[in-house]
Amino acid sequence: MDTKDLLTIGEVSHRSGFPPSALRFYEREGLLRTTRTAGGQRRYERSVLRRLAFIRAARTLGVGLDEVREGLDRLPDGRTPTKADWSRLSRAWRSRLDEQIQALVALRDGLDSCIGCGCLSLQRCRLYNPEDRVSELGPGARLLPPMLRRTPAEGV
Ligand code: FES
Repeated sequence: MDTKDLLTIGEVSHRSGFPPSALRFYEREGLLRTTRTAGGQRRYERSVLRRLAFIRAARTLGVGLDEVREGLDRLPDGRTPTKADWSRLSRAWRSRLDEQIQALVALRDGLDSCIGCGCLSLQRCRLYNPEDRVSELGPGARLLPPMLRRTPAEGV
């Protein structure tokens, strides 16, 4: 590919909204590929912008870097991913995203009801969790979906 068709780190940073430091970090983490000019400067294919949009969306949803890398590794190396390539990634992530959607709906609908956290502070706790009976099932809000009881990617 002719280097003039490639983007500089400044152009990618401007268009993607990621600072150059983040672009270098994602490259070190193996999520992005670059080429170098004779002077050693990074150059990016325009398709990197879609990868970055995917990274931002996934990270915003709390997806860990390892899982993001696993997803992006499904895309071809050395050529611009096609719609079919992205569809393959989308299929691989469908169940994960569906689970997240269900969890978000449960959280949205559960916040005014008993979530089985042990607080026994709502009227409904007497109905759904009398004497904190669900504590026998283990720690956390036992009436929320498992995805909402996991330790976040950052560990806290
Ligand atoms: S909301 Fe906490 S135990 Fe019911």
